[in-house]
Amino acid sequence: MAFLVSMHSDSPPPFRLLPNPLLDRTAPYSLAEQWILNRGRHLEVMEEISSWPGYEPTPLLDLRPLAKELAIGRLSLKNEGARFGLGSFKALGGAYGVVRVIQDEIERLTQTSGVTGREIMDGAYRDIACGITVTCASDGNHGRSVAWGAQLFGCRCVVYLPPAVSPAREAAIVQYGATIVRTRGDYDDAVMEAHRDAQRLERFVVSDTSYEANVNVPRDIMQGYTVLLAEVLERLTGSDRPTHIFLQGGVGGFAASVVGHLWETLGPDRPACIVVEPDCANCLFESASLGRPATVTNVHRTIMGCLACGEVSTLAWYILERSVDAFMSIADEAAETAMRRLANADLAVPVGPSGVAGLAGLVCIAGDADTRTAIGLDRSSHVLVVATERPTKGE
Ligand SMILES: Cc1ncc(COP(=O)(O)O)c(C=O)c1O
Repeated sequence: MAFLVSMHSDSPPPFRLLPNPLLDRTAPYSLAEQWILNRGRHLEVMEEISSWPGYEPTPLLDLRPLAKELAIGRLSLKNEGARFGLGSFKALGGAYGVVRVIQDEIERLTQTSGVTGREIMDGAYRDIACGITVTCASDGNHGRSVAWGAQLFGCRCVVYLPPAVSPAREAAIVQYGATIVRTRGDYDDAVMEAHRDAQRLERFVVSDTSYEANVNVPRDIMQGYTVLLAEVLERLTGSDRPTHIFLQGGVGGFAASVVGHLWETLGPDRPACIVVEPDCANCLFESASLGRPATVTNVHRTIMGCLACGEVSTLAWYILERSVDAFMSIADEAAETAMRRLANADLAVPVGPSGVAGLAGLVCIAGDADTRTAIGLDRSSHVLVVATERPTKGE
């Protein structure tokens, strides 16, 4: 099996890098991948989400002083903290999952097709929508998006939160009218509890992770996230395109949406993609290392709480396993350092600890000659990171 390339000189080691042993950059984007994410559904998503109130592309920042400090050519940061006023990129996924569930139910009951989110928002199918209850487990951001979507499209919502989720994150969900169920155990236990109750109580699960036969909604959610990358590709064209992208990983849905869309759009010419996880919740790293989906236990000891997932999303893993260039595990200190660096940069951007993990991975690698070489990072590189969340007020 391919192995760990490098460790930082500090003790304990703040990061590990694993070049993907299964990487096949020339693999075609086949029908199986297209079933998960494809251009046609991406265009539908763009049309739907851009019709929602308050839609605008999130800012793309050019962090020149930080790029210089890290000895790279350019550093672009996509700031998802501003997305729909919800504070994270998840606003694109959960709420899109909700509208898809309601559309399907309306079309099934009325034997019609082509129902739009705008019609549902305007109350054209109020009697059907208000009879629907959507539900999900969340570390905070996904639940906020599902609750917001439920309010926007007029259905009920129940969100399952593991104990590690802060009262501030709970309050941010409750403000959109959702009912909260506090669970025991970790995020993965909450996923199962939400699923079991949904079966018993006839609720619709809007899960951001796929497991067993639960694939259609997580697939829609990942497709929703592709809006973010499309906004970047609209701005960074031709020689302005990034050479490297550092993406934070929880269950892998976010990373798969970006890498899958890039793979479909740019094929082997896509940037090098590096997935970064907390070292105590690195299920994607371990899956790459084992060559099959792996489970990690004791995942809730990290400040990167939204990345505290012990099991990969099966659909996401299908995309990621051959397309990601390298996987990284980082310690909490790396995220703290990255947040400090960002605060010091000329363009100070407030980013939460889960939202900064990609940048943290870059900061670790930038200071380590061997790993720089391993991923081809040099003074001409243009790196894209995504600040996936802003800090939660009161946390
Ligand atoms: C802020 C933030 N960044 C990244 C992620 C990772 O997304 P995924 O679980 O799809 O890998 C999450 C997931 O909740 C998140 O909340």
